[in-house]
Amino acid sequence: MGKNLFFFLFFSLLFNQFAYANKLDGEKLFKEYCWGCHHQTAQAFGPSFKSIANKRNRGEIISQIANPNGTYKTLGYTRNSMPSFDDLNSDELEALADYIYKFKDKK
Ligand code: HEC
Repeated sequence: MGKNLFFFLFFSLLFNQFAYANKLDGEKLFKEYCWGCHHQTAQAFGPSFKSIANKRNRGEIISQIANPNGTYKTLGYTRNSMPSFDDLNSDELEALADYIYKFKDKK
């Protein structure tokens, strides 16, 4: 079981690297970088993407990903628990924001 999981993770990482070179996919980026702390629709260590999409604008989301230390106060948190993803380029940040907005409630 442990071994199978290892191979699964290894090959999905490998596969991610290939897919990644061709097309920016917000879901893949999410699984690679955010899944440990965020879930699409359920509260985890961090808030769900659904709740984020419902209350934040694009600028807030993108700044929070790139530089949470500069954003957490504006968003109403007393301290920051999220690592900054300042090595993501703007296309990747946009792809993540698009992915987060997929979970916004339809009005
Ligand atoms: C180590 C855990 C962790 C990782 C990894 C992480 N986050 Fe977070 N994130 C948090 C926590 C916790 C918060 C709530 C603010 C706080 O306590 O710092 C948060 C807050 C946020 C917010 C603002 C929430 C709001 O109130 O609007 C956004 C947007 C966000 N994260 C997006 C992402 C994205 C996108 C990724 C992947 C690139 C990511 N996070 C990776 C833990 C994490």
